[in-house]
Amino acid sequence: MGLLAACGGPGTLRRRAALVSRMAKKTLEDCPPETLADQVVVVRVDYNLPLNRDGEVVDDTRLVRTLPTIQYLVEAGAKAVLLSHLGRPGGRPDPALSLRPVAGKLEEFLGYPVGFCPMTTGLQAQEAVQGMKSGEVLLLENTRFCPEDARNDAEWAEEEISFGTKLFVNDAFGAVHRAHASTQGVADAVRRCGGDAVAGFLLEREIRSLSDTMADPEHPFVTIIGGAKISNKIDVIEALLPAVDQLLIGGAMANTFFKAHGWAVGDSLVEEDRIDTARRLMDLAGDKLLLPVDVLTAPSITSDVSTCVSACDEVGEAQHIGDIGPRTAELFTDVVGGARTVIWSGPMGVFELAPFRSGTFEVARAAASTADQGATVIVGGGDSAAAAVAAGVVDRITHVSTGGSASLEFLSGNEMPAVAALSDR
Ligand code: 3PG
Repeated sequence: MGLLAACGGPGTLRRRAALVSRMAKKTLEDCPPETLADQVVVVRVDYNLPLNRDGEVVDDTRLVRTLPTIQYLVEAGAKAVLLSHLGRPGGRPDPALSLRPVAGKLEEFLGYPVGFCPMTTGLQAQEAVQGMKSGEVLLLENTRFCPEDARNDAEWAEEEISFGTKLFVNDAFGAVHRAHASTQGVADAVRRCGGDAVAGFLLEREIRSLSDTMADPEHPFVTIIGGAKISNKIDVIEALLPAVDQLLIGGAMANTFFKAHGWAVGDSLVEEDRIDTARRLMDLAGDKLLLPVDVLTAPSITSDVSTCVSACDEVGEAQHIGDIGPRTAELFTDVVGGARTVIWSGPMGVFELAPFRSGTFEVARAAASTADQGATVIVGGGDSAAAAVAAGVVDRITHVSTGGSASLEFLSGNEMPAVAALSDR
């Protein structure tokens, strides 16, 4: 342990595998507890958690996964100063996106008080940090209330480590694709001061799981891609295609492929400007690509409609496609059942609504059964992770990523600026 492979540079899986063996970044395991006592350690976490209308946290997975890192620092007697974004407030304070309720949630899990400072920089933040004792935790206010974060402002980043900080821990996998001051900037600043920027336990596990799977996938290797738009997934499809044995496409993005075949899709969502892309991907993928053979349709995508099953080339006028059909679910379940490696990103339908959830749930259950048989099953974050939770199978999946876009960027082979900025071993 302790060896974190950095991801970097566009390229094929083989090139990535070479990178994995060549490049390595420091992790928290390289920081023995005795070096941390009384030190102010700045930790970037991704507490961009879904909140309900009353501002209560509705899914705390990302927070729970950071607990090992925080507990390690607390037990070592460090002063852990946490930085996170929440939502996209656009560089201005927005009370609805305050991290204050998240501090309360963290306190519940840790079982001891967590300080909260309503500022991210400035005198109030400095005084809050200066008042910390060994083993205490302080969460600063949303980094995106400051315009400097998204601008990757070097002075802002320097201020965040102006407490003699010699260690920055990045545990925010969900944000490593962002070259922001709180992700890349603080890492650069701490290294400029002769300190270290290291990966926390969550980040280390994410990168290790994804890169190990990508470097040497056991075959059959099956990828399931769903969700609304092809445009978000083109890079990942192209990057994975050479390595996979089968690529299953579901969700609304399949509609654009149907259109590329010349089939009518009623009033369903289609990316008209991506029909050529869909055609190109079909040519590129050949037999590897499996599209749905049937779909569930309804006059509207609402929670109280009755649905009917249509063949993919027989969707009626004024109908909306909301899920894959039962024959497709069976076909996809069979393919996933025979796989030794599965990567799943994006739901098969509008699983949040009861009439359209069965396709996604069946795929989730098939992925979990395959994992039970010893296959490696990776679920990209965001909606597919929520679907695995809703289907009651999340604990059976080999690795559920905490990063939505970050996991897609990673799997696409794109550089992760916040990982590249960590200290080399
Ligand atoms: C996410 O939820 O995917 C991460 O927290 C990143 O958020 P962002 O897309 O607003 O940068």
